Amino acid sequence: MSTVQAVRGMNDILPQASGVWQHVEHVLRVTFDRYAYREIRLPLIEKTELFARSIGEVTDIVAKEMYTFADRNGESLSLRPEGTASCVRAGLEHGLFHNQTHRLWYLGPMFRHERPQRGRYRQFYQAGAEAFGWPGPDTDAELIALSARIWRELDLQPIPNLEINSLGDSDTRQRFRQKLVDYLRRYEGDLDHDSKHRLQVNPLRILDSKNPDTQKILTAAPKIRDCLDRESRTHFDQFCGLLTLLNIPFTVNDRLVRGLDYYNRTVFEWVTTKLGAQGAVCAGGRYDGLVQHLGGKKQVPAAGFALGLDRLVELVGSEGATWANGVDVYIVALGEAARAKSWDYAETLRDHGYRVESFCGEGAMKNQLKRADKSGAVVSLLLGEDEVCANTVTLKVMRQRDIQITIDAEDLVDKVGILLSEYRV
Ligand code: HAM
Repeated sequence: MSTVQAVRGMNDILPQASGVWQHVEHVLRVTFDRYAYREIRLPLIEKTELFARSIGEVTDIVAKEMYTFADRNGESLSLRPEGTASCVRAGLEHGLFHNQTHRLWYLGPMFRHERPQRGRYRQFYQAGAEAFGWPGPDTDAELIALSARIWRELDLQPIPNLEINSLGDSDTRQRFRQKLVDYLRRYEGDLDHDSKHRLQVNPLRILDSKNPDTQKILTAAPKIRDCLDRESRTHFDQFCGLLTLLNIPFTVNDRLVRGLDYYNRTVFEWVTTKLGAQGAVCAGGRYDGLVQHLGGKKQVPAAGFALGLDRLVELVGSEGATWANGVDVYIVALGEAARAKSWDYAETLRDHGYRVESFCGEGAMKNQLKRADKSGAVVSLLLGEDEVCANTVTLKVMRQRDIQITIDAEDLVDKVGILLSEYRV
């Protein structure tokens, strides 16, 4: 019988890779905490309508990429393609936006039916930060400082490039859309198929086109910056000023418009050249209208970002560090009495916080030591009839052929501590 394979674009994270994932996730949790962001846990499945209304019906995500199905009651549900919409939904449902401010973060799998390639998967992981209740550019800058700190903590080299832009208010975008359409109509015959379609339904997205001929046409296209309303221009200038104050280099990218409809004013992306075509490791912006658009009574200013963990882990992993998740002590026991005694030692060491692996079943000394070696343990604890009778244990420092000592059993915890501090790399 043939074996069942995983769904295309949905990856297993195997034990040898989970160490780097845990490291990255730990850094994220600690960093969110340092900026007073609090965790929110959200369902993986929402009503389809939530994403259609927030991300936008004519975006690629909603039009082509969602995993949508009818549940047993015939209701249309979707696996979440992102976390912002759920965050707003939860905030509205639980009254979090009533005269309150909130800094929230989440981490988990998202689902988009895209064509899989390096850095682009159908189940992928995002860590997101969303700030509700603050209208000013200081919140936008704080989000950038937070993400920049994550790059530093993870020792990313080089640091990804920060690209920023402003989409202004809805009048700005309407004015700009008209100008852009007027301009592009002159070249309609030369546009690629996708862009021709977008010209009808979502012309701003043409600015994202990777097609070289379309890009050439775009070089002389109108810029959204030239259409900005006065408040948005001030907001953007202040945002740029704060980034300079924070010493964070950035590039203004006039073509950065983002693929989700809810943004206004600030948008940004952190882009690396080290991951091939899928270079955006983190992206976000301001979405002051979304809470009200999803049924909120008042406008609640908001801004946030999501970073792609799959991409971030690849960047950290490719820095050459190894993330061993081996054990501290491996227990080798020969004979029935020794095996019975070994439980006691293993549990005592675990009581003191050490990571302990025991050989299970029966095996010759040589065989057990081979396993100890493979486990990556720093020290192995050897226990035979002699040790049991004398109430001693033998400790062997792995990979140091000549270091093997026999000690009183009651000194075990202290001695293991000393050996680990000396020989753990
Ligand atoms: P997004 O740009 O769609 O924004 O996704 C954010 C990040 O998720 C991307 O920059 C990328 O690193 C990662 N990502 C997206 N799709 C995939 C994929 N198929 N495979 C691997 N990684 C992927 C959002 O999702 C917004 N909710 C961000 C946001 C939060 N804006 C405001 N708050």
